[in-house]
Amino acid sequence: KLKVGILISGRGSNMAALVEAAQDPAFPAEICCVLSNRPDAKGLDFARARGIPAVVVDHKAHASKAEFEAAVIDALVAHGVDFVCLAGFMRIVSPAFIERWHNRLINIHPSLLPSYKGLHTHERAIADGVKLAGCTVHFVRAEMDAGPIVAQAAVPVVAGDTPDSLAARILTAEHRLYPLAVRLIAEGKAKITGERVEIAPGAVDETARLF
Ligand code: GAR
Repeated sequence: KLKVGILISGRGSNMAALVEAAQDPAFPAEICCVLSNRPDAKGLDFARARGIPAVVVDHKAHASKAEFEAAVIDALVAHGVDFVCLAGFMRIVSPAFIERWHNRLINIHPSLLPSYKGLHTHERAIADGVKLAGCTVHFVRAEMDAGPIVAQAAVPVVAGDTPDSLAARILTAEHRLYPLAVRLIAEGKAKITGERVEIAPGAVDETARLF
């Protein structure tokens, strides 16, 4: 099985979706640890309750980003992690960290990339009047919210949507998309070659059925 570590900063609902998916013995990945840069992250309690090692590496307790990231890497390695999922991890990772986990580091972002990189994605989508929004799982590259796309899910933007109502609709899709993306990668059905992810033909149909 793919040995996954999940990095969070807060609520951790995407982490919880991955943990729950991985409880199925047929799921091809196991969650080795959950790591938060914030000691008060709500998601840590969920992980502990499921018996998953929950680690805090507080960025404020480290003198530099390099030291912080070295401590994160040590903790991940100590738990046998060889693939990392960012799930609401609100620290920008350095090029050195990305290189350390080259093509073994993915992120979920609440927009249909390459639209709406960065923060306040839901407000900006509503302000623009777009009629479809969604979420993206992608391999991490040095450029923020860029990198080869693994999978996406779209949801409608409806009349009367607020940033919160749209965020909630997208989050529901995120909780389905992230486990799907990890499964495709772990099964070798989503393969990264250069700067593109190729999805095995059968798996595309599977993705379409889910959304
Ligand atoms: C999710 O919507 C995720 O896509 C977003 O933060 C939320 C975390 O929720 N990530 C980003 O905005 C990354 N720039 P969660 O902690 O409940 O998974």
